[in-house]
Amino acid sequence: MSEKKNKKIIIFSSGNGTNAEEIIKYFENKKEINIHLVLTNNSNAGVLERAKKHKIPAIFYNNEAFEKKIVFEILNFLNPDLIVLAGFLRKIPDIIISKFPNKIINIHPALLPSHGGKGMYGNKVHKSVIRSNDSKTGITIHFVNGDYDKGEIILQKSINVESKDSPESLLKRVQKLEHKFYPLIIEKLLDEQS
Ligand code: GAR
Repeated sequence: MSEKKNKKIIIFSSGNGTNAEEIIKYFENKKEINIHLVLTNNSNAGVLERAKKHKIPAIFYNNEAFEKKIVFEILNFLNPDLIVLAGFLRKIPDIIISKFPNKIINIHPALLPSHGGKGMYGNKVHKSVIRSNDSKTGITIHFVNGDYDKGEIILQKSINVESKDSPESLLKRVQKLEHKFYPLIIEKLLDEQS
């Protein structure tokens, strides 16, 4: 009987890293799926401490390393089964997208195509939802292509926006959804690859 191949995940995160940490925790006791590496382009990112706490290697690289294809070379060498963007605020170069078709996913804290695109991240997204008087918001998990927030949608989950909501209260409720569904979708996608 053929054995299932172990799966390798690389996470990209630029900030606090709560999603990265939830993903790390979810897969901690699942031997067949490894969080291999966390990469960040922000030397002050909270994700560095969070990864360290769980003994996951985490590396900071500057944006020049990205431009000079150093990150591409790292990915090429490690050959991950899935690249997970979790609050990563830089465009993924086309060379990486072409090398890993359907293997790069992102999470966005709103119901795309609304409130997406360049510069739309974190609290800015929630402010935009409140400003637009939307009755619903939520999360979108999608494949990454060459355009910001435009890749094929894998999953959306919504919540109601209440009149008393602020960007901060939306952030809290939307992040709860993110933390619950991102690990589950990652596991499902890897399972479908086997
Ligand atoms: C998350 O809410 C994620 O959806 C968002 O950044 C936050 C990162 O939080 N991503 C975007 O806005 C991408 N356009 P975290 O660092 O605590 O996981």
